[in-house]
Amino acid sequence: MKALILCGGAGTRLRPITHTRAKQLVPVANKPILFYGLEAIAAAGIKEVGMIVGDTAAEVEAAVGDGSAWGTEVTYLPQEAPLGLAHCVRIAGEFLGDDDFVMYLGDNLLEQDLRSFVERFEADRAETLAPSLTDAPAEPAAAQILLAHVPDPQRFGVAELDAAGRVVRLVEKPADPPSDLALVGVYLFDRSIHEAVASIGPSERGELEITDAIQWLVDHGRRVRSEILEGWWIDTGKLTPLLDANRLLLEKLEARLEGEVDDASRVEGRVVLEAGARLVRSHVRGPAVIGEGTEVVDAFVGPFSAIGRRCRLERCEVEHSVMLDDSSVLDAGRIEDSLLGHHVEVTRSAQLPRAIRLMVGDHSQVDLG
Ligand code: DAU
Repeated sequence: MKALILCGGAGTRLRPITHTRAKQLVPVANKPILFYGLEAIAAAGIKEVGMIVGDTAAEVEAAVGDGSAWGTEVTYLPQEAPLGLAHCVRIAGEFLGDDDFVMYLGDNLLEQDLRSFVERFEADRAETLAPSLTDAPAEPAAAQILLAHVPDPQRFGVAELDAAGRVVRLVEKPADPPSDLALVGVYLFDRSIHEAVASIGPSERGELEITDAIQWLVDHGRRVRSEILEGWWIDTGKLTPLLDANRLLLEKLEARLEGEVDDASRVEGRVVLEAGARLVRSHVRGPAVIGEGTEVVDAFVGPFSAIGRRCRLERCEVEHSVMLDDSSVLDAGRIEDSLLGHHVEVTRSAQLPRAIRLMVGDHSQVDLG
């Protein structure tokens, strides 16, 4: 079993953060989204990983390296443009060979572990090959998909199942969804997917869709297993899901105080204070994580906050927010539900006239509350 992680594409929905950065590397609870996927793949016992990379290849390679940090061996597979998920399988054909593989979308984050998902695919195959089991399906599944009930299926690939739970139809981002079952960004395939991706043409949005390739398998009489997701799942390409993911992961946090806390500061609940971080006359209420080298002075950091490395918070309150590395919030009142990029400065100066002075990049959003 190999893995194919998709890390190309353009992160338009998380702009402006992704103007300069791969969306798969945006941190959640101070760890890049992609690393959770790599951890899950490694925990499922998969060692050979193909990584599809696009414009942000250099950044992804700098973060992941050769994959040995996860006990894996990563092969980078450059994609010239984001031509679709099935296009990724096409260009990975040589790397994947005839092996089964997990396809993992690098911007998806799920609670469910991958190991049991893979094991059930393999168990299904073993059953079909065991002649003694009379009620076993006649042929092994060519693919296994993971589905989740969602309130907004129009945003996803959507599956229609028959009464027996078999996949009969898959449609990508339908205006009129046949069900509320969205395709989660983790798929299992055997080698028959290669014929499928070679046979389909581009969709209306000009992409080679993996949903169409799976539909091709169904249309050609191949069995597609489906499972309903256990636990939460987040497609992190937007701000609200990103803050949700941050909250869900912080809920699992184990407290660790490696930084300095002065006598006038208070730490409540599950808080990670990384080495070199400093609290001065401040109050931190977990779950929250404060990165290496960050200084919090006369400030309050509230629940579900992930503060990056080398940040500075002074005379302010920050809650339910993500602050990336090297940013500062000084004398800024209270900030909630916010995502601040790298090297962002939020301050309140004494300069007159009293006014809001902005220098905000393209696609930024400011809510004056
Ligand atoms: O998140 C689940 C959804 O992911 C599924 O329900 C949909 O069926 C599936 O098509 C996909 O939809 P998205 O529109 O959310 O896909 P997105 O363009 O965000 O790409 C998903 C990941 O794959 C992301 O990490 C970028 C990467 N990618 C995407 C494309 C189109 C590539 O590496 N190459 C590509 O050509």
